[in-house]
Amino acid sequence: MPTKLTEHKVAAEKMVLSVTDQFHLLTENTQLSFAVTDQGNLFTTYFGKKLGAIDLSYVLKDVNRASYLADTYGIKNYKVEQLPLTYPSFGTTDLNQPAVHIEYGDDGSRISDFRYISHRYLVEKPALEGLPSTHAIGKVTSLEITLLDAVKNVKLYLTICAFEAYDTFTQSIRLENLSNAALTIDRLMSTHLMFLKDKFEMISLTGAWGREAYVQRKALTQGFQGVSSARGASGHGQNPFVALVDPNTTQNTGEAYGFNLIYSGNFVAGCEVDMHQNTRVQLGINPFDFSWTLEPTESFTTPEVVMTFADKGLNQMSQQFHQFYTDCLVPENFAKKERPVLLNNWEATYFDFDREKLLALADKAAYVGAELFVLDDGWYGRRDDITSGLGDWYPNEEKLGGTLDELISEVQQKGLQFGIWFEPEMICEDSELFRQHPDWMMKVPERTPQIIRSQYVLDLTLTEVQEYLISIISTLLEKYDISYVKWDMNRNFSDIYSTKLSKNRQKELAHRYILALYHILDEITKAHPDVLFESCAGGGGRFDPGMLAYTNQIWASDNTDAIARLATQEGLSYAYPSVTVSGHVSAVPNHQIGRITSLGTRTAVAQNGNFGYELNLSALTESELTKIKADVSRYKTYRKTLQFGQHTRLEVDNPQNEHAWQKSDDKLVIVTMIQTLVKPNSVAKRLRLLDLDDKVNYQDESGKIYTANELMSIGLPVEKPTHDYFAKVYVLTKV
Ligand code: DGJ
Repeated sequence: MPTKLTEHKVAAEKMVLSVTDQFHLLTENTQLSFAVTDQGNLFTTYFGKKLGAIDLSYVLKDVNRASYLADTYGIKNYKVEQLPLTYPSFGTTDLNQPAVHIEYGDDGSRISDFRYISHRYLVEKPALEGLPSTHAIGKVTSLEITLLDAVKNVKLYLTICAFEAYDTFTQSIRLENLSNAALTIDRLMSTHLMFLKDKFEMISLTGAWGREAYVQRKALTQGFQGVSSARGASGHGQNPFVALVDPNTTQNTGEAYGFNLIYSGNFVAGCEVDMHQNTRVQLGINPFDFSWTLEPTESFTTPEVVMTFADKGLNQMSQQFHQFYTDCLVPENFAKKERPVLLNNWEATYFDFDREKLLALADKAAYVGAELFVLDDGWYGRRDDITSGLGDWYPNEEKLGGTLDELISEVQQKGLQFGIWFEPEMICEDSELFRQHPDWMMKVPERTPQIIRSQYVLDLTLTEVQEYLISIISTLLEKYDISYVKWDMNRNFSDIYSTKLSKNRQKELAHRYILALYHILDEITKAHPDVLFESCAGGGGRFDPGMLAYTNQIWASDNTDAIARLATQEGLSYAYPSVTVSGHVSAVPNHQIGRITSLGTRTAVAQNGNFGYELNLSALTESELTKIKADVSRYKTYRKTLQFGQHTRLEVDNPQNEHAWQKSDDKLVIVTMIQTLVKPNSVAKRLRLLDLDDKVNYQDESGKIYTANELMSIGLPVEKPTHDYFAKVYVLTKV
């Protein structure tokens, strides 16, 4: 195997295209294969259904060469732009969007040529330093492939891990500067994958505040398409998830490739269809407004990307993500623990609460059977509206009518656990923290910073800010018996500048912020493993696997309307397990959009996520409270299946108007059917269930018994909707 550039050159003169080595990473049903050519170029020859460790070198050779594309290394027809390079760099003959773009400090050149020098199988699935990453469960094969730019003496390490039982792969890249000069990374993707076809549709999760994660599916066309964020967070309007599917792929049939980046900051997730009908998928840190200076001997590691392939439709793809995240990503302490039914006071009181109101709410929460009382924004510093207080993380005893301890113990005496809200990353101008440390926020010297929701973003990269947040939050969690923390973040970045960074490093700030956030979260969550953390960013403004590595659940949307939530919860279910997606029953008319839906519909939708309440129970009638009490009690009976059962999106006649979700485990199948608008002169339908155990029968709540095949072939009879916003939940028990 040639290891030096000169040797590659000799080989190049001799031959056209010959493969010298192949690696196959196999899972139970899928595989990812690589080949190295004589020139030392690394190609991804295959990703898909398992074929076995066979010779796939012909994939590279059979390509018809297009006119006008450049030959490489002077070899006729060695046109790498048309070949599935695993990690193309800018400046050789592949002139599409590269995976890596570096500016070298010694001469200002921006051309790299990374070639294979070695590979090794790692004994353990490596964790990423400073970044969230997945951990091994079951058999994991980890392959590290090393590429070298021999002219600049810079190495790229591709670490690709195959999680056998999950049919899932992860990949991360590390760049090591072994030269004597600094270099600047302008682009370093976590994955680049090229398919030698373009007949795909791309699915992404898009929207805005209040309508997060709506599914968008469209055919690929030549050029770029995808989602990205430059907001400092993954964002409400886009999610670091993308799937490529066949045009014919449905929920239950067809091929689907799913990609998800374990990252919470500025990202890009998209595709480029080139001039010759090839498709390149790339996910990674958004290169826009990003660069990173790497001094000699230093390394830079990209976030980890998750890649999964399914040949039985979108449900299978999603279920692979769900299982993988539950087992290998979210914090283990709560990963498989049933989550408490909570009551959050936000929509019940907003900032307008006192001890009496809180305890009255807690009383009712205990009466209906809730298990956790969450005190949202407004308990600290001076905070009676959004204009003041952020940063002052000490209890406002005047407002609480006593100490926080006293409040907690009174809540606990009612049989409830106590949870609390923080927004640690922010600061209000009107706060003690600001008066003491006006220099702790992000702002550009001499410019007036943008004030958004009356708050500024703290510069988390400052060590003193990190220390303050870790110490103040940890102290509170040590001092008070707090079982749950809601970690909120209510604005995006502007005024991106850090006084700590030199002028040529300012483009590092957005990424350094996320690294600092992960550090803070890591310290706090590890020190308090018994506290359940939920993250939130004005709802689903940072719903991503990066946050899920520290917080077991995420508030999906500030829009608590059951009907608007259908699309959000359905969208999030493409990648994220139901138990990570928090959903609460709220008041009607709904506070965000004014819609009136029945309690039954609100409950049916919310309980398909991580269930709770967010309304003024004190304002409800006796009969409403009795109904809620019965709902909570029923929910607890089925909680395990609802939180951890396999989630399947059932096929419906009109997906714009109907949603049908199936949760199943070894004991139960729970089907939720919701129809938004009633259809005149319609007839009752049947819902064909999926993936049932055909060795057993299923009994519905009336006692009727069906075989699994009946339910999968003829379908479960469902009620005819009689009004708008109609919901019905069916419980089937295995008999
Ligand atoms: C935004 C969150 O999404 C809400 O649930 C609530 O916690 C408010 N922030 C409090 O300011």
